[in-house]
Amino acid sequence: MAVQDKLYHVLGAKQFSRSELEELFAASRSMEDVVRAGGDRRHAGRIMTTLFFEASTRTRLSFESAMNRLGGSVIGTENAAQFSSAIKGETLEDTIRIITGYSDLIVMRHTEIGAAKRAAAVSGVPVLNAGDGAGEHPTQALLDAYTIQKECGSLDGLNIAMVGDLAYGRTVHSLSYILANFKDVKIYYISPENVPIPPSVKHYMDNKGVRYEETTDLNAVAGSVDVLYQTRIQKERFPSPEEYDKAAGQYIVDAELMNRMRRDAIVLHPLPRAGEIAEEVDADPRAAYFRQAQNGLYIRMALIDRALQAE
Ligand code: CP
Repeated sequence: MAVQDKLYHVLGAKQFSRSELEELFAASRSMEDVVRAGGDRRHAGRIMTTLFFEASTRTRLSFESAMNRLGGSVIGTENAAQFSSAIKGETLEDTIRIITGYSDLIVMRHTEIGAAKRAAAVSGVPVLNAGDGAGEHPTQALLDAYTIQKECGSLDGLNIAMVGDLAYGRTVHSLSYILANFKDVKIYYISPENVPIPPSVKHYMDNKGVRYEETTDLNAVAGSVDVLYQTRIQKERFPSPEEYDKAAGQYIVDAELMNRMRRDAIVLHPLPRAGEIAEEVDADPRAAYFRQAQNGLYIRMALIDRALQAE
């Protein structure tokens, strides 16, 4: 199938303008009604491929659930590095060319930064980036922003702390790019010294005039933020166990930290967590991370709908 120019790919978070985000959030709201009504059949006969070269629970299953809720079908492979013909040496480009002939939409997670762009360059159907190595995770950032809007009422004028592994944690890169669309946002980047927010992200925020501060002191900032966005230390991406050990265990959200936070603040986490939010926090109404994961279904329904309508 020929490569088309006008496909609705989602490759990175910088591609979204404020008006596109507002449209997407409105569509996601209406998808909540669709789910409450038991789904519909608007994409019956359409097929989505999920091609995952890295592990996933939320992203893959919420995309698959989303397509099913819209009446479509799903084919795919998890652990694609092992169970697709990549293991026999097939290039990513050839894999995508083949899948293009079998389905109407590709959702791909890959180990390498830029893999989604490579896929889109040869694809005849829309490609949705479900995470490319330590690069970006744009659909996660969309659901994060949607959650913030629902929980806080607006994305303008917020103080947001991003905490943890800001170097390898791709969700904070994409969320920064999304937040740059909103007014009077201030971001606190709080990380161990060996995994700071990358210069490329800071450069983008500088160009967009977004205020940010880098610090290692979570306790000093916790009381002044609307959103505390905690992240996992991405053990699988560190060059050595010693480097991982330097970063691990420094920031834990527990009842004591929650006591420092405002009564109207929320705690988010893209999940999975690996000890950086204590389970005692789950019962606190400010713990919004399970609601956040649920919102992934609605955002991904809206994205699938948009991508298939644009085809
Ligand atoms: N947040 C997220 O991407 O989770 P999964 O790795 O389980 O998909």
